[in-house]
Amino acid sequence: MKHKLIKRVLMCQPLFFNSLNYVINPWMKPGTITTKKALTEWKQLVKTYEQQGITVEVINQQKNNPDMVFATDQGIVRDKKVILSRFWHDERKGETVHYEKWFRKKGYTILYLPNDIYCEGNGDTFLWRDKLLIGLGYRADKKTSHALGKLLDREVISLEITDPKFYHLDVGLFPLNNETIFYYPPAFSQKSRGVLKKIVPNLIEFTREEAYGFCANSVVTDHHVIHQKGTPTFQTKLKQLGYASIEVEAGEFMKSGGGIHCLTNILEETT
Ligand code: ARG
Repeated sequence: MKHKLIKRVLMCQPLFFNSLNYVINPWMKPGTITTKKALTEWKQLVKTYEQQGITVEVINQQKNNPDMVFATDQGIVRDKKVILSRFWHDERKGETVHYEKWFRKKGYTILYLPNDIYCEGNGDTFLWRDKLLIGLGYRADKKTSHALGKLLDREVISLEITDPKFYHLDVGLFPLNNETIFYYPPAFSQKSRGVLKKIVPNLIEFTREEAYGFCANSVVTDHHVIHQKGTPTFQTKLKQLGYASIEVEAGEFMKSGGGIHCLTNILEETT
């Protein structure tokens, strides 16, 4: 089996993360975040990527945009083109202009979604095999599926998310490779579980502990999975599949409902 190798990612340095003062998903705990702690965790994640030979591009956080740290939500990047996100909640709309500037400065072609289409980048989408998997229900809807299918010229598999704790697809589902996907069944409608069973050769269930421990919010490069600390059962499953587990602490970001994958926008990878 061929394995993807990540070459370059975009991350946002948390400088004002503690300014978080709203709740738009059930994990969020405004008033409990320490920017210094977040920065320490973030730097460790950067170091982990660099040890894997990944180049980390950095955008600095802007004041009053606490969730700007979640770089993956900002756009779907492919071949120096980016489909710029449109956030569902007003609280996050101000982030886009800063990323738009960054992508433009770096020479990316920016593709804009029509005005009534919402999409939160790789928070809700995965390019998997020749398909696009998308999570619908909290931050994207059927119109998003349609628009992205056209823009990317791909078959779109729409998965209905039914539990607000799993508001983004990358909180309840983790594609490990072309054969294997991990998912947390209670996050999805009966119908969507059926769809996954049909299309995924090796579909593995997360336990409740793994799902609530943010295991879905992992990043895989080659035979290494970088994931949230504290879920030994996930480590065992990965080892059985031939993957090395690299644990990183991202607990400060979980206080906003985000984790390792949310912090990481993959700009370039080999397939
Ligand atoms: N507080 C942010 C929100 O609710 C967290 C986003 C995390 N990103 C992700 N890809 N799950 O939008």
